[in-house]
Amino acid sequence: MIAVVIGGGTMGAGIAHLLLAGGHEVVLAESSADRVVTARSAVAASLAKAADRGKLATTPDELLKNLTVVEQLAEVPAELVVEAVPEDVDLKRRVLANAANACPDAVLASNTSSLSITALAQGLPGERVIGMHFFNPVPVQQLVELVVHDGVAPSTVASARKWAEDLGKTVIEVKDAPGFATSRLGVAVGMEAIRMLEDGVASAEDIDTGMRLGYGWPMGPLRLTDLVGLDVRLAIAEHLAAELGPRFEPPALLREKVARGELGRKSGQGFFTW
Ligand code: CAA
Repeated sequence: MIAVVIGGGTMGAGIAHLLLAGGHEVVLAESSADRVVTARSAVAASLAKAADRGKLATTPDELLKNLTVVEQLAEVPAELVVEAVPEDVDLKRRVLANAANACPDAVLASNTSSLSITALAQGLPGERVIGMHFFNPVPVQQLVELVVHDGVAPSTVASARKWAEDLGKTVIEVKDAPGFATSRLGVAVGMEAIRMLEDGVASAEDIDTGMRLGYGWPMGPLRLTDLVGLDVRLAIAEHLAAELGPRFEPPALLREKVARGELGRKSGQGFFTW
């Protein structure tokens, strides 16, 4: 089957990898010639890591034959579109509206980690729109969180679930509430860990070790914030504070670090040095 992924950053490249490894043809749309090149390399690098770990049934080169990276999405008979562009409602609406025309039969899924699916669906064929929230690193993390708004067609929910399950993921279904299930809880723990660091309760290393060895997390909440990006987590916390109240107000330390450009792993410095 054919799937379209819009946006070739960390999440988009990971989703493209997953779809290719699942035997699908993938059209990956980016927004400039430079980004087309970078996106293709990101998918190739991710597939190479999976191959090194013996996780691919074939070679990355074979799978990459099924990948087309384009600067402008044209008409394509896709059954699934997943957008993974930055967390900006207008941008996401724009790319989904374009995809709705280019792929008239496709489920229109957003990988947003916090934005309202109801808001995204406005002005679009809402019955085809759903939240399909993947987790970083996409080929590794087992979950897909389906976010269901009032206007979605049951056939869209069933189709998104089938896509995710056929790709080997476990699905949870969540109503369109701020932060869904996972971002709301994940950000709550992440913000509290930062406040504990501010209060001098323990060092960053010890807070993380506490959750890793005490609770069996694969990485502690501060290292995870570095992986996700401090700017990304700040934006989600601000959104949740606006929607759910001051208990989600981001800690000053997070704001200061983002203002200094300490964005986590991608900038080389966050709560840890990378
Ligand atoms: N395909 C592609 N890459 C793979 C892979 C595969 N099958 N298996 C592993 N890798 C990658 C890893 O991502 C890692 O990449 P980097 O070199 O870029 O770090 C590398 O290969 C090493 O992998 P290992 O398995 O050897 O490393 P590890 O045992 O340290 O595991 C981890 C790394 C999978 C990230 C693990 O620490 C983990 O699960 N951490 C928690 C991640 C998490 O909580 N993710 C959710 C974030 S929240 C989110 O995504 C939602 C949101 O809305 C923001």
